[in-house]
Amino acid sequence: MSERVSLLQHLTQAARAGQLDPALALVVQQIGAASREISAALARSALAGVLGAMDSANASGETQKKLDVLSNDAFMQALSWTGAVAGIASEELDGAYRVPGASGGYLVLLDPLDGSSNIDVNISVGSIFSILRAPNGAAGLTDSDFLQPGSRQVLAGFTVYGPATVMVLSFGHGVQGFTLDPVSGEFLLTQPDIRIPERTSEYAINASNQRWWQPPVQRYVSECMAGKEGPRGRDFNMRWVGSMVGDVYRLLTRGGIFMYPRDTKDPAKPGKLRLMYEANPIGYVVEQAGGAASTGYERILDMQPEKIHQRVAVILGSKEEVDLVVSYHRGG
Ligand code: AHG
Ligand code: MN
Ligand code: MN
Repeated sequence: MSERVSLLQHLTQAARAGQLDPALALVVQQIGAASREISAALARSALAGVLGAMDSANASGETQKKLDVLSNDAFMQALSWTGAVAGIASEELDGAYRVPGASGGYLVLLDPLDGSSNIDVNISVGSIFSILRAPNGAAGLTDSDFLQPGSRQVLAGFTVYGPATVMVLSFGHGVQGFTLDPVSGEFLLTQPDIRIPERTSEYAINASNQRWWQPPVQRYVSECMAGKEGPRGRDFNMRWVGSMVGDVYRLLTRGGIFMYPRDTKDPAKPGKLRLMYEANPIGYVVEQAGGAASTGYERILDMQPEKIHQRVAVILGSKEEVDLVVSYHRGG
């Protein structure tokens, strides 16, 4: 028997301690099962002929990759029989899916595969998940039941498929990381209490959008770039994986700030990332790890969503840095 704590053991202990509804333990186990399947599909992707695009577009009008669809199917199948999941919303589905025969009252929101541009180039991608309670239970579930602020999430996390497959999870009692053992197929607790370092000197932003950034973000990044000789008085490093999960896993490990701010490239869009299945779950995990998550003007988890596929500006990570960017938005 492994000396490490397995995901199931961790969830069972939390359920016995009254921290987690036992029904959710099964849901998370199934999220783990889907993640394991996706991890295997990614490892064999070129061999199995599942690289490349489909002919279809998702609800946001983006071309779907074959692996986006395969990952969505893996989650739908894994979550369909638990009884606990009443509905599923996903980046890859137009509207919410009502799970037939469900009696439990949980809603799962998914970005089945995050980092589309990295799928074909062998760079880390991931899956992001968020769980809410159905306000009126399983019966008569509607799309608007999903439109709850992120502060109501009961559990959220993501799996990053990198050199190792790691699931990062929070149900309101800190953040834990579980590494998939590819030999046994088990997720094992490897990062017991993830805390984001408060003082950090690394930022992540797609700098090719610089000409469209608004003044607060221009100011923050130019001050970082000025380094020791600038107002920050220290040198900063920059990283951009292009998969939110990869950038966020890095900042959970060694600190930093991640930004996909609102910009003027397409004034109709309030940002690129999606509130319900990217910003909310990642914001929840980041806050649980001692960090902060904001649009620049308000806490992400306080936002009242209007649409399932709604986009939002995202600024998250080490608290000191996020607070500074927020102060620049307030004119500080
Ligand atoms: P998705 O693949 O689920 O559509 O999400 C991609 C997101 C996010 O993971 C990443 O941070 C961002 O898009 C990268 O955007 P750019 O290609 O504009 O840098
Ligand atoms: Mn994504
Ligand atoms: Mn995606």
